[in-house]
Amino acid sequence: MMKYAERMNTMADFANVTRLAYDATGNAEIINFALGCPADETLPVEAAGEILADIFGKDKRGLEALKYNNPRGILQLRKIAAEIMLPKRGVMDADPANILITTGGLETLNFVCQLFINKGDVVLIESPTFMQAIQIFKMFEAECIPVECDEHGMIIEDLKAKYEQYHAKMVYVIPSFQNPSGTTTSLERRKAIAEFGSEHDIVILEDDPYVELRQRNENLPSIKSFDKTGNVIFADSFSKCVAPGLRVGYVYADAETIYRIYDAKTATNSHTSVIPQMIVAEYFARGLYEEHIEKAREIYRVKFDAATAALEKYMPEGTKFQRPDGGLFYWVELPENAPDTTEMTKHVSEFGVNYTPGAGFFVNGKGHNCMRLSFGSMSPEVITQGIKQLGEYIKSKM
Ligand SMILES: Cc1ncc(COP(=O)(O)O)c(C=O)c1O
Repeated sequence: MMKYAERMNTMADFANVTRLAYDATGNAEIINFALGCPADETLPVEAAGEILADIFGKDKRGLEALKYNNPRGILQLRKIAAEIMLPKRGVMDADPANILITTGGLETLNFVCQLFINKGDVVLIESPTFMQAIQIFKMFEAECIPVECDEHGMIIEDLKAKYEQYHAKMVYVIPSFQNPSGTTTSLERRKAIAEFGSEHDIVILEDDPYVELRQRNENLPSIKSFDKTGNVIFADSFSKCVAPGLRVGYVYADAETIYRIYDAKTATNSHTSVIPQMIVAEYFARGLYEEHIEKAREIYRVKFDAATAALEKYMPEGTKFQRPDGGLFYWVELPENAPDTTEMTKHVSEFGVNYTPGAGFFVNGKGHNCMRLSFGSMSPEVITQGIKQLGEYIKSKM
């Protein structure tokens, strides 16, 4: 038997939960609330097809598309990040030289770990937080320490206390419609986190792929926009706002960090595939993005209306949930006498609904009464039916 590296054991529990979510896709019998997919009807199938044909046809960019390219990514897309995406997040003067195109947000998380995480280093995380981020931190053999959160994000006093206690190397924050809790970090706390990073000279990894999916209230400036010392690394992605199958994101950081990420990128995969970069860039350049994202927000608003109504109607009394201002997820806390949500996944075929059990979003054994529901890829009718089946099953076991 071949001997796997230790890192594969440290991440195994988290990897299993992710695997379960993916395995349920494609089973037509099961309504799958487990995956954070954008809605099918928002994916720009036709436009992508036309752009692709033009790249190889009238635009005569076929050679450029098929050759090796710069590890930083194509300039056209880095400019779009600097001139369109970052200003929306309060960063007005980004230099495209400080932006590197990644193969999605997950790659940025991997690169940041490659740069900064040694075995045993402490990463402070929101509690709960994005399961695959935990998986990545574990793969780098980091110790993940949860910081208490409320409806405004990380509680700063607890962040400071945990830092003092564990001498953390990095803080990982998802400030908008957090995955999985759906909460948005308040303006005051965004400033406080940026200041905290500077004061203690530690890395703040700001992961913000959902901000474009805001349905109500105003966008807040990013943590990065308050960073005066280069301690904040900003990870963004086109997965949720354009299409996840393209696998394109970007990272914005100070020149020295980008210089190092460039090295990690060349050692990993040279550069992100050029064709998807061109598709995303042309989608913006042809003025298609703004209308598209406005439509997507409306589509999610209707789905969230259906989800809110169904959760109120079908979930057992004492269930807690809050409609988030945007994003793709609802975080649901069941009453104490409800079945364990991890255990319940073994019986998915009985009630025909898959979801992500809450425990995988925690590193301290919490979350067994919680579940994350993602409605992006379902119609309002299917959402209602799925929540009905889920609620009835839970009630029958109480
Ligand atoms: C918080 C967060 N960061 C990053 C990602 C990964 O996105 P990408 O598809 O760009 O790798 C996700 C996807 O679910 C996410 O929820």
